[in-house]
Amino acid sequence: MSTATNTARRPRDTGRPTLPARLRRAVLTVHVISSVGLLGEVWVLVVLTTVAARDGDTEFARTAYRLLSVLVFAGGIPLSLTALATGLVLALGTRWGLLRYVWVFAKLVALVGVIAIGAALFAPEELAVADGLTASRQWGQTAAVTAQAVLLVTATVLSVHKPRWRLLPRHRDRPSGSRQGGATTRSTEP
Ligand code: HEM
Repeated sequence: MSTATNTARRPRDTGRPTLPARLRRAVLTVHVISSVGLLGEVWVLVVLTTVAARDGDTEFARTAYRLLSVLVFAGGIPLSLTALATGLVLALGTRWGLLRYVWVFAKLVALVGVIAIGAALFAPEELAVADGLTASRQWGQTAAVTAQAVLLVTATVLSVHKPRWRLLPRHRDRPSGSRQGGATTRSTEP
């Protein structure tokens, strides 16, 4: 049996099957591209909403909000849904689990927060055609996307550092004394 096959069938210390190594790498690649791409897109929203609110030129602001609306539909929505779907597959398909570690669950909460803020508070298409384009309304949009950026930066930091704080106590999700590890994942998996 090849090494790749061995690592694909890692010890099942939770009793659940885990993703084969190649599939896990492929999903992880899509996850990193979509989630960090989402952070880049949100940063563009922060910059453009700030410029639109500061500029004082209503026509310029309306054009910016029209552009932002396109960015949200072509970038933000598909990227956030892809990051969510791949994140769930990685959490449930590896020994990280969804509820075992604080960092995984916190990222789920962060991404749901980003999506909720976008759905409830960010409405560039409305501002593009609004009669009264007040400063407070415009700065409100900047505040909403800045909150999204903070959540995504936090999620990225958590992903890189993976603090070992547990959400579930060890005995709840794994037989006591079971060994961990897998040749390709020992340094990054719990
Ligand atoms: C909020 C936006 C998110 C960002 C910016 C983000 C970013 C990342 C990054 C950069 C990695 C690679 C870390 C590494 O390999 O060292 C990663 C891995 C991971 N992410 Fe996310 N993520 C996000 C959302 C989520 C969500 C919502 C979940 C779960 C529901 C999740 C679960 C995971 C898991 C389990 C891994 C480890 C995969 C593995 O090692 O096989 N992520 N994430």
